[in-house]
Amino acid sequence: MAEQLQEALELARSARRIEFFTGAGMSAESGLDTYRDAVTGVWEKVDPQAMASISAWVTDPEPMWAWYLWRAHLASRAKPNAGHRAIAEWSHSPTKAQVHVTTQNIDDLHERGGTDLVTHLHGSLFKFRCTICHRPWKGKIEFPAEAVERLPPPDCPLCGNLIRPDIVWFGEPLPQREWEQAETGMDNADLVVIVGTSGVVQPAASLPLLAYERGIPIIEISPATTELSSLCTLSWRAGAATALPALVSGLAAD
Ligand SMILES: NC(=O)c1ccc[n+]([C@@H]2O[C@H](COP(=O)([O-])OP(=O)(O)OC[C@H]3O[C@@H](n4cnc5c(N)ncnc54)[C@H](O)[C@@H]3O)[C@@H](O)[C@H]2O)c1
Ligand SMILES: [Zn+2]
Repeated sequence: MAEQLQEALELARSARRIEFFTGAGMSAESGLDTYRDAVTGVWEKVDPQAMASISAWVTDPEPMWAWYLWRAHLASRAKPNAGHRAIAEWSHSPTKAQVHVTTQNIDDLHERGGTDLVTHLHGSLFKFRCTICHRPWKGKIEFPAEAVERLPPPDCPLCGNLIRPDIVWFGEPLPQREWEQAETGMDNADLVVIVGTSGVVQPAASLPLLAYERGIPIIEISPATTELSSLCTLSWRAGAATALPALVSGLAAD
């Protein structure tokens, strides 16, 4: 840990434009399940195709609506961990770095942890839109306090079709504006920090290549080797809530 911290500090000291790229492991220490971790991943309990495809939604939306509202309830109760807060603090550290976060997460823990510039590549548990006309839903949605098997989604007031979670499901394109923000972040960064992603979901996982091809240093913080480890200048085998506060305190102590 001490050696990896020193290496990370070496890379981070001179960085002025930092691009974070985060995944489910970022929120693991806030109590939210990751997708692919063998024992606790949410997809171990639920068939992902059954809860994350437009064909499943069209066939039977009620179990999916109930499941996403339950996850929204869990995410709304979770608290940002020390890793989320450290990322926000980095922008106030003596290096006066600009910090942008591109996240694959659909929770809002980066924002609640105090980071201003956050791009969500895969949507949000707290946004809803019409399945057909795409209009954002402005009404209130009550989250169930207990897991329930089925709930009926509301109808779009404009076209009468069903309101769905504004989340990117398997086979769906990523939102264009967010994708461009993520690419700009990678193109402008002088340091990339990858936290808590297995790097297997494309096209998101291709983003760090933009920085790699420019020869920009990349730090990875994750307890296990990932598909992105081979691109990284430093693979720091630690949890987000341990490594990030250590790094940011180290910078502040310089
Ligand atoms: N569309 C869908 O419905 C669907 C289904 C599955 C996955 N996905 C998408 O795939 C994306 C990519 O998955 P992912 O990479 O975010 O999650 P992941 O579960 O695939 O990987 C999580 C990573 O975090 C690491 N990790 C675990 N604990 C950690 C900690 N405390 N600190 C740091 N790292 C830790 C794990 O070792 C793992 O490498 C998801 O965000 C999601 O948007 C979507
Ligand atoms: Zn509509």
